[in-house]
Amino acid sequence: MARIRIAATTEIAEGKTITFSFTRDDRPQEGFVGRFKGKLFAYENTCRHIPLTLDYGDNRFFDSKGETLICQTHGAVYEPDTGLCTRGPCAGASLFALEIIEENGAVWFAEEPL
Ligand code: FES
Repeated sequence: MARIRIAATTEIAEGKTITFSFTRDDRPQEGFVGRFKGKLFAYENTCRHIPLTLDYGDNRFFDSKGETLICQTHGAVYEPDTGLCTRGPCAGASLFALEIIEENGAVWFAEEPL
């Protein structure tokens, strides 16, 4: 299983996000990690309304207060810690969570074997 090093743990500060690419089912995918209330989270960068990226490729996921994640296209609002959409066209759906590993001062993502 290939491991992708996303970033040093210290690079993912409170309210910050970092995107990364991986492959699943032979298709390129994008994910993002972030930190909210001290805890790391990771999701696929795919809105649950229409399968578009949440950001516009500009790494903007948090709202201006750093309290929620926002889809830039139609404004769906997601809880950073659970991925649940609480407002917008996909309310009640959840972002697809990705499992990450914190080890040796870095955050890693394990790609599924091909
Ligand atoms: S594509 Fe995200 S809210 Fe519509």
